[in-house]
Amino acid sequence: MNLFKATNENIITASEAIKSGELVAFPTETVYGLGADGLNPIAVAKIFEAKNRPSFNPLILHIADKSDVEKIAKIENPKVVKLIEKFWPGPLTLVLPKTEIVPTIVTAGNDTVGIRMPDHPVALELIKNSQTPIAAPSANTFGQLSPTTALHVKKQLGDKVNTILDGGKCAVGVESTILQVTKDEIILLRPGGLALEDIEAVVGKVITDRKFDHMPISPGQLPFHYATTLPLHFMNEVSINGATGKRVGVLFLKENKSDTKFDVEKILSPSGNLIEAAANLFSHLHELESADLDLILVEPIEETGLGKAIMDRLRKASNKYA
Ligand code: TXA
Ligand code: MG
Repeated sequence: MNLFKATNENIITASEAIKSGELVAFPTETVYGLGADGLNPIAVAKIFEAKNRPSFNPLILHIADKSDVEKIAKIENPKVVKLIEKFWPGPLTLVLPKTEIVPTIVTAGNDTVGIRMPDHPVALELIKNSQTPIAAPSANTFGQLSPTTALHVKKQLGDKVNTILDGGKCAVGVESTILQVTKDEIILLRPGGLALEDIEAVVGKVITDRKFDHMPISPGQLPFHYATTLPLHFMNEVSINGATGKRVGVLFLKENKSDTKFDVEKILSPSGNLIEAAANLFSHLHELESADLDLILVEPIEETGLGKAIMDRLRKASNKYA
């Protein structure tokens, strides 16, 4: 048994594990993270091993105090300060030039580092007690669904991590929005739990269509990712014949408006609220994945607010089966 309720005592024990170079899975407001001491390269290497993650992927460092950002990154654009003041703690990761103390294994050799301050009391207490930034990707096997409950983590990584802190279901439910901020540009690397509209209201236009000619620096930019283990398609892209004789589960935003009844039907938000929909996205997909189906169909949704992050995750899952 490696699942512990996130009591004060268990958080302290978990922080001892972090200090001694072990892995701890912990809740954040977005998804569960698989954490290690971000300044200890050996500890960080264990993350890649547990996740089966290609080592070219850089990790996010999680901090518990806004002022800690200056130990690990250089602030060269005043808009960084605005973003931090407005959105931390919260689902926003900033990719900034790194300082010397950040090990290259964390940044995958990049001279930038991704940083965020999570808005979750368990994550913040764990980081504070560990007295180090915690490097953490989402606590799933590489390319699979992100975990929004401690049980999701146990299902995928239960035999790879000794400590899973259970802090309940993640409130936001999709990963953080990632922005790279240079001296004069703000570039969206991954849409996520903080809506682009909210960011642009504070710092103005964000570049959303930047193409990188080398390896994608963020797997958020890989053509497929966040995949289900079952084939997943958008409803408008698969002929109904393709589903004949198959057990089909469908993910709807508000309701099933069609005449067809499916084997399993899941609703993201009965009122069509995109915040609630994001919070339910991965847990509904986890349930569909475990429901003895042949196929998952999803209804496309409008790409405003968090709809952008939801559609990004669904497109990446469906691309695997295109
Ligand atoms: O909400 C989240 O961001 C969750 C929780 C646990 O904090 N974490 C998360 O981590 O989603 P991960 O590793 O699954 O995704 C982080 C993304 C990756 O696509 C990675 O490539 C990108 O952040 N990233 C991290 N550092 C970067 C850097 N220096 N340059 C470009 N991309 C970076
Ligand atoms: Mg991930």
